[in-house]
Amino acid sequence: MINDTRRLLARLLGFKHPERIVFGHNATDGLNMAIKGILCAGDHAITSVLEHNSVSRPLNQLENDGVITLTRLEATSDHLIDPDEVRRAIRKNTRLLALTHVSNVTGTIQPVGAIGRIARERDLLLLVDAAQSAGVVPIDMEQDAVDLLAFTGHKGLLGPTGTGGLAVGERAEVRPWREGGTGGDSTRPVQPEEFPHRLEGGTPNVFGIAGLREGVRLLLERGVESVLAHERALLGTFVTSLQSRGSLEWYGADRLIAERGGERRVGLVGINVPGFAPSEVGAILDERFDIAVRPGLHCAPYAHKHLGTYPQGTVRLSAGILTTPEDMRRAAAAVDEIAGAS
Ligand SMILES: Cc1ncc(COP(=O)(O)O)c(C=O)c1O
Repeated sequence: MINDTRRLLARLLGFKHPERIVFGHNATDGLNMAIKGILCAGDHAITSVLEHNSVSRPLNQLENDGVITLTRLEATSDHLIDPDEVRRAIRKNTRLLALTHVSNVTGTIQPVGAIGRIARERDLLLLVDAAQSAGVVPIDMEQDAVDLLAFTGHKGLLGPTGTGGLAVGERAEVRPWREGGTGGDSTRPVQPEEFPHRLEGGTPNVFGIAGLREGVRLLLERGVESVLAHERALLGTFVTSLQSRGSLEWYGADRLIAERGGERRVGLVGINVPGFAPSEVGAILDERFDIAVRPGLHCAPYAHKHLGTYPQGTVRLSAGILTTPEDMRRAAAAVDEIAGAS
């Protein structure tokens, strides 16, 4: 069952090596495994302001400890990472580019393929954080030249919390960080070289992975493109249903959602209602309207500095595969009521 889940995930991610998909606790585990298993003393890494703390913190710690040097790229006003900026930041000792596929704050889809080609030209490794994109945005690790991809089960992959891991391309040498039993060859004194055992020690989360398998199976049946189209249409419904649209603060281009079909973004949007803290809006939506949103910094403080919303953050509304147009109209009416527009 576990190996079948690897095969299904490999199909979904356009990855040729199912055995090199390693399971861990979540995307954080996969990202730590990659960052700490690849970077060595004296290396330089490139990251961006759009990253989740699961990318920023391990890199910052290595930098603080004097192990690596780090460049954090700014984002454009459209909340994108410019591949030319990546190219300009590369130094002689650059080893790793660690970048998100989709920002969990702005919802923008990054030009991973263009960045992957630069990484190949310059013989670097590209680590992509696909926590917010896997199962929602089509990705092809081979075509997009992605060397390492971290995923989480509990978002677009429709699996349980506490599942996730790392797909490790053949160019990437990752040192094992969790060494122990593999249920296979017990004679070797150290962790086996072969995947997935090289990076997978101990008893796996069998029940969690079983749930993840069903999520991935459903996505393969339905098609990731159709999930993305569904999410974008729902965002359009939300924006056009709002009466208070003009009086809200928008982070992530409401005009693009309404007029260009949500191009270059997934189905999430950040807003603020003037006069209310994001946490107040979140609490009102929860308690009075039974609508769950995520207020605050979303574990991505640099992204909020980029938006100018640090430290209070924003209210993030996210649509998913099970969300309906009626849900979005209800959310719009609730926001209107809080904003005093209805
Ligand atoms: C962009 C991004 N990266 C990483 C993570 C961390 O995922 P996990 O909590 O599964 O470790 C999240 C979300 O939770 C995320 O949105």
